[in-house]
Amino acid sequence: MSETSVQVWDIFVRVFHWSLVFFFTVTYLSGDALETVHAYAGYIIIILLGLRLIWGVVGTPYARFTNFIYSPQSIKAYLKSLLSKHPKHYLGHNPAGGAMVILLLIFVALTSWSGLKAYQAEGKGPLASTEISWVNVAQADNDSRDKGKKGDEFWEDVHELLANFTLFLIFVHIAGVFVSSVLHKENLVRAMISGKKKPLE
Ligand code: HEM
Ligand code: HEM
Repeated sequence: MSETSVQVWDIFVRVFHWSLVFFFTVTYLSGDALETVHAYAGYIIIILLGLRLIWGVVGTPYARFTNFIYSPQSIKAYLKSLLSKHPKHYLGHNPAGGAMVILLLIFVALTSWSGLKAYQAEGKGPLASTEISWVNVAQADNDSRDKGKKGDEFWEDVHELLANFTLFLIFVHIAGVFVSSVLHKENLVRAMISGKKKPLE
């Protein structure tokens, strides 16, 4: 095995990843009690996602979506190869990891969007000044008088469900990172810190 290593994750991807981990944790834990902290940490997540979308198109080769969006057949073939003695090795995200990255980005975005809707239903946040929101607030007001705050609660329930499903995906993501690290005898967490991976044999 060669001693040299290859630079795979650029500084943007690494700072993005660990910032997302930090702000996701803050946002998740503040959801129940610290509304202002929660909303601002949520806005930071939305900005991080926006920047990652741009970087996925114009960024360094391994950061681009085209580098890690694989066909369902390649994902199946990779998962099958995990059962063999020599699982297929990739420098960037492997096909299963790449699919998980896309799912994570989509569900973090959906969770944030539903959070904005829940905030709007309370008459707060950037969507609160839109025309539709006044309909929602009026609706929520009526509902709160008539049926006990149903207008707010719909988006809160959707938001809570999406937040918990995203958390479940994160556990699968971490398990996947652990399994791949063992099978490929490579510390992927360290690679997400240093940016460096061992070259393909
Ligand atoms: C402490 C917990 C976590 C660890 C140890 C971890 C580890 C990793 C590693 C090693 C990779 C690179 C995978 C590869 O080599 O293909 C990765 C990628 C990724 N992880 Fe995590 N992760 C954690 C938590 C999270 C959380 C909480 C989120 C989402 C909120 C997340 C979202 C992502 C995304 C989007 C990528 C792709 C990075 C990119 O290409 O921009 N991770 N993670
Ligand atoms: C990935 C980002 C986010 C995560 C993981 C998240 C997670 C959560 C969680 C776990 C709760 C508590 C649910 C419960 O037990 O009732 C919550 C509540 C809430 N979130 Fe978020 N959230 C995110 C983004 C946002 C954003 C961007 C906003 C809007 C600015 C927002 C607004 C709210 C509101 C209004 C509530 C209801 C608070 C209450 O109980 O009154 N969230 N969120």
